[in-house]
Amino acid sequence: MTEILALCRAGFEPECVQELEQVMAEAECAGYGKTERDSGMVRFMLQGDLPGNLPGAESLIFARSLWPITLNLEHLDAKDRARPMLDWCEREQLQFADVRVECADSPAGEALRALCRGFESALLGLLKKAGRINRRERQALLVCLLSGQHALLGKVSAAQLAAAPRGGIVRLRFPGEAPSRSTLKLEEAFMVLLSETERERWLKPGMTAVDLGACPGGWTYQFVRRSIRVQAIDNGPMAESLMATGLVEHIRADGFQFRPKKAVDWLVCDMVEQPIRVASLMAAWLRDGHCQRAIFNLKLPMKKRYLEVQRCLQALQDEAGGKLLIRAKQLYHDREEITVLAARTS
Ligand SMILES: C[S@@+](CC[C@H](N)C(=O)[O-])C[C@H]1O[C@@H](n2cnc3c(N)ncnc32)[C@H](O)[C@@H]1O
Repeated sequence: MTEILALCRAGFEPECVQELEQVMAEAECAGYGKTERDSGMVRFMLQGDLPGNLPGAESLIFARSLWPITLNLEHLDAKDRARPMLDWCEREQLQFADVRVECADSPAGEALRALCRGFESALLGLLKKAGRINRRERQALLVCLLSGQHALLGKVSAAQLAAAPRGGIVRLRFPGEAPSRSTLKLEEAFMVLLSETERERWLKPGMTAVDLGACPGGWTYQFVRRSIRVQAIDNGPMAESLMATGLVEHIRADGFQFRPKKAVDWLVCDMVEQPIRVASLMAAWLRDGHCQRAIFNLKLPMKKRYLEVQRCLQALQDEAGGKLLIRAKQLYHDREEITVLAARTS
């Protein structure tokens, strides 16, 4: 058996398991997921070796990070947790470029956070002393603490680990001048769903956007701060500070009826609505050429959430009347929802 560890939002373990089972079946690997409710993690057991085409967490919706696990250490001695890890390195003559110790984003994980920090620097020091750290190595050591006595260890790509945010969580600072905290959702979507090159090409001053369900303006703010003009559609009030920039036109209209006079670069939508209605609306805008690309939330139902996500993404693709680039992710700043990027490819 080979083990893969996925971290996800606490409460979304069943969706994470369903997605992993689907992806692994597509890679022709048999396996099953083990998890506990609200643990924020899934341990996926594969029959046989890791597939060469194992997807990265960036292509999964519910898994924030995905690492192969080599060693499962239980009954660790609180006074010397590092000992069996050092013994393993010695036995297998392992060297690592770096080491990271993390835990799940869950109530149990929260209680381990300080231990993770302290243990990471202690373990790094001990590994250095034992001659097990070599910055030129291509593999790094990932340790995930499940409790003070239980750790999962993985030999992972040093480059991938360096590029991956801790716990798969992109932490952002709230910009004080933004009118609502949900501004962080769109900022994270830009960080996670777009590459650096796409951000440079697709978020340029002078571009145009429509924000459906815009009030009080957290999402609009993300465009305004990039000097992008916004038509903000909502019957509610927009923040005065945004209106004062002269870059925002506030239109009191129904987001499902509104269409722009001229095509825009971006459509974003944060209306609290049935996800299938939102997916169809986005598909219609893309199909009719009203926008080049869209970022939107799909608020998930209480039950059959994974099925609903698949239904919505399928409807988006089918109804857009042409091939779309689609990326979807449950972001750190998302709660009972996921965020989707859909872009016309021509
Ligand atoms: C979650 S809030 C949006 C928050 C906003 N993205 C921000 O960052 O400040 C949802 C908004 O959608 C608006 N809304 C809901 N249904 C709408 C509709 N059919 N047409 C226009 N606005 C709608 C609500 O008035 C509400 O202001």
